[in-house]
Order: sequence, then structure tokens, then C-alpha cells
Amino acid sequence: MDYLALKSIHVASVALSLGGFLARGLLMLAGSPLLAARWLRIAPHVVDTVLLASALWLAAAIRQYPFVHGWLTAKVLGLLVYIGFGTIALRRGRTRRIRASAFCIALAAAAYVVAVALTRSPLLSR
Ligand code: HEM
Repeated sequence: MDYLALKSIHVASVALSLGGFLARGLLMLAGSPLLAARWLRIAPHVVDTVLLASALWLAAAIRQYPFVHGWLTAKVLGLLVYIGFGTIALRRGRTRRIRASAFCIALAAAAYVVAVALTRSPLLSR
């Protein structure tokens, strides 16, 4: 597949993943029962699978790999922090305070991953 098309798929799935996470986090903070809706629990898995598949495909296309190239290592680690704290924020956190803190950490991790993507540097230096 054309590199630019693949990158567009990656960026679109990033936007859907972050937008969806932000929306579900706000539902969580508002204590909305909508958060338990079946499609709201399934759609993120579909989006995140596309995100990860396009990420690995892009990495293979430019022959740069996580745990070989620092910026891609930083993206994978940032992604794990985003997923881990995202799960605590939306499901596993026992109190609202824990869930709200985890939500903020997950958002910060996602912002870091976007910044790493734009600078291609784990320290965000150009
Ligand atoms: C939360 C997770 C992720 C976010 C928010 C994210 C975000 C982005 C963004 C915004 C871009 C476009 C950068 C630009 O326009 O120059 C991009 C490109 C890219 N991403 Fe991701 N990404 C994520 C996960 C990953 C992972 C896990 C990998 C690698 C295994 C990866 C590999 C790449 C590659 C190779 C590019 C193309 C870079 C280029 O052509 O300059 N991404 N990513």
C-alpha cells in the first residue's frame, strides 16, 4: 500500500482512538451509564487494532523498529502507558479519584506519543 495512504490510516485511527478515549473519559467523570453500552466497549478494540497494525506496517515500510530506534521505542512504551492507565481510568480504578488521575496520566502519555511522532525524537528535540 502507498506509504501516504497508510500514514493517513494511522493518523485517522489515532484521532478516533484519542477522541473516543476523551469522550469515554468524560462519560466516566460524569458517571454516565452510557459507558457500559456494548458498542462503546467494542469499537475501541477495532480502532486500536487498526492503529497498531498500521503502526507496525509503517515501521516496516521505513525499516525502523521499536527497541532498535529510540523514537519508536518511546512510542511503544508511551502506547503501553496510555493503554494501561486508560484501562484503570475506564474500568479498573476503584474510586473516582483514582480513575480521574489515571485519565489525566493516560492523556499526558498520548500527548507525549503524538509529540514523539511529530519530532521523531524520544526527547522531543528536532
Ligand atoms: C498512541 C499511539 C500512537 C500515536 C498517538 C501515534 C501518532 C502518530 C502521528 C500523529 C503520526 C504522524 C506524524 C507526522 O505527521 O509526521 C504518526 C506516524 C507514525 N507512527 Fe505513530 N502513533 C502511535 C503509535 C505508534 C506505534 C506503536 C508505532 C510503531 C510501532 C508507530 C509508528 C509510526 C510511524 C513509523 C509513523 C510514520 C512517521 C513518518 O513517516 O514520519 N506509531 N504516529
